[in-house]
Amino acid sequence: MTALPDPMLPQRYRIQRVRREIPDTFTLELEPENGVDIPQFATGQFNMLYVFGVGEIPISISGDPAKRKLLVHTTRAVGTVSKAMRALKANDVIGVRGPFGSYWPIKQAEGKDIVIAAGGIGLAPLRSVMYHIISHRERYGKAVLLYGARTPEDILYRHELEQWRAKFDLEVDVTVDRATGSWRGSVGVVTRLIPRASFDPHNTIAMVCGPEIMMRFTAAGLEQRGVALENIYVSMERNMKCAIGMCGHCQYGPNFVCKDGPVFQYSQIQGLLSKWEV
Ligand SMILES: Cc1cc2nc3c(=O)[nH]c(=O)nc-3n(C[C@H](O)[C@H](O)[C@H](O)COP(=O)(O)OP(=O)(O)OC[C@H]3O[C@@H](n4cnc5c(N)ncnc54)[C@H](O)[C@@H]3O)c2cc1C
Ligand code: FES
Repeated sequence: MTALPDPMLPQRYRIQRVRREIPDTFTLELEPENGVDIPQFATGQFNMLYVFGVGEIPISISGDPAKRKLLVHTTRAVGTVSKAMRALKANDVIGVRGPFGSYWPIKQAEGKDIVIAAGGIGLAPLRSVMYHIISHRERYGKAVLLYGARTPEDILYRHELEQWRAKFDLEVDVTVDRATGSWRGSVGVVTRLIPRASFDPHNTIAMVCGPEIMMRFTAAGLEQRGVALENIYVSMERNMKCAIGMCGHCQYGPNFVCKDGPVFQYSQIQGLLSKWEV
């Protein structure tokens, strides 16, 4: 039996390709240096990515869980480590620990309608769910993706969104906070898309990822349509160090986001979310 790698020891991955998605956001496609398959991961899980000599940050896996050759991560450059990561090029090496954390309830969603609601970079951890749904379309009822970006230039994975929208068995609705250029689509926050989306609220699992305020308002909008709070799942972000439930850096009420999350049932953390924001 092969021993599992030490969860605290980064494994060396070589960058195969860097995709510049939108001005501050990029996707790295990584291959293990030792040529083995990437570890099996569940949609919604994350890895700790280590830029040698700079630092390590948690980033969700945004690739297709059925593909085991490349590890795919989309990152927005906001600070020290993510900006250093943006400067990396194909053939550079990066450290990877993981996968860690809880996952989206794609099994519980079988036989039900699925609503995916994402804001900004929040689409990255949900893209792996989209890949899974598309590969196993017969297992789900209606599949709805609601996405909000700041401006049309900030729409992440635009080409894929267009491809998904062209399918007859997926509903994809996109809105921007502020229209620019030739944009003729919806303008306004993502919650505005909820009333016109077509799903059965009493037989729906919703998966939501974005800024905390967006997740709170989206959950409220879904509840208003009749979705039970237990059937709404959100993905939380907190600063992390160990990612294995040892250091306490990611503590969130009684939970450790790295171990008990990042994906939580909304009913489990609703009280904390509103307290944290006041
Ligand atoms: C489980 C999990 C999954 C994540 N998945 C992704 C992902 O798929 N893609 C991704 O881009 N990010 C993701 N993040 C967020 C990412 O980890 C942080 O953006 C990153 O740690 C920032 O580190 P840094 O050193 O670049 O910035 P720092 O130097 O730590 O921060 C610099 C500045 O940026 C601000 N900042 C930090 N984080 C954010 C943020 N998320 N948004 C806006 N401003 C911020 C800080 O307040 C600070 O002012 C995830 C976080 C968690 C916990
Ligand atoms: S990051 Fe150390 S306990 Fe979660």
